[in-house]
Amino acid sequence: MNTIMNRFRETGVVPVVVLENAKDALPAAIALNAGGVGIMEITLRTDAALASIKSIAKDAPEVLVGAGTVLTLDQCKASVEAGSRFIVSPGFRPEMVRWCLDNSIPVLPGCVTPTEIMEGMEMGLRVFKFFPANVYGGLKGMKALSAPFVGIKFVPTGGANAENLKEYLSAPFIHAVGGSWLCAKEDIAAGNFEKIRKLAGEASAVVKETI
Ligand code: 3PG
Repeated sequence: MNTIMNRFRETGVVPVVVLENAKDALPAAIALNAGGVGIMEITLRTDAALASIKSIAKDAPEVLVGAGTVLTLDQCKASVEAGSRFIVSPGFRPEMVRWCLDNSIPVLPGCVTPTEIMEGMEMGLRVFKFFPANVYGGLKGMKALSAPFVGIKFVPTGGANAENLKEYLSAPFIHAVGGSWLCAKEDIAAGNFEKIRKLAGEASAVVKETI
């Protein structure tokens, strides 16, 4: 858990990726990695998601691939079976968190209320997804929550982009920043992997100068 969470910290950004076609998974992973972002959260929003995870796990093992938008325990198990090395969920499902912890799979559940954070902490979690960050108060919301919950960190997603990345990363309660801007659906559809590499490179430069 800690090694992978350290990698999130070092990389600083977590691309949230929606793939309609599993054949795009590998070029997208290679482009992100070439730009210095060796992490990919493949969302389980499409039929191609599990095959995409499998393809990266097999052919680009240097990239840390995980599953996002994991809504059920069955999806969670299927993602790990496909090669996911971490699990991200938009909300907090205790049975999913428990299964991940029991199986040494790093898990980032979305927690935006004090009660959810307290439940997660009780289970041993210290890093939470904060989604949708732009709706739940952004930096102000996370700052307020980090006052009573000393030492916890957030991975905000929802509304993060190249413009606000530096501001987010500068906050002491931010572990890493997630978002779709790094590997956008449109860029994948257009086969514009060079743009994906460039955006990853720009984000990596911001991470290096900020954390
Ligand atoms: C998501 O799960 O869709 C993420 O929060 C991405 O949000 P974004 O498109 O605003 O980056």
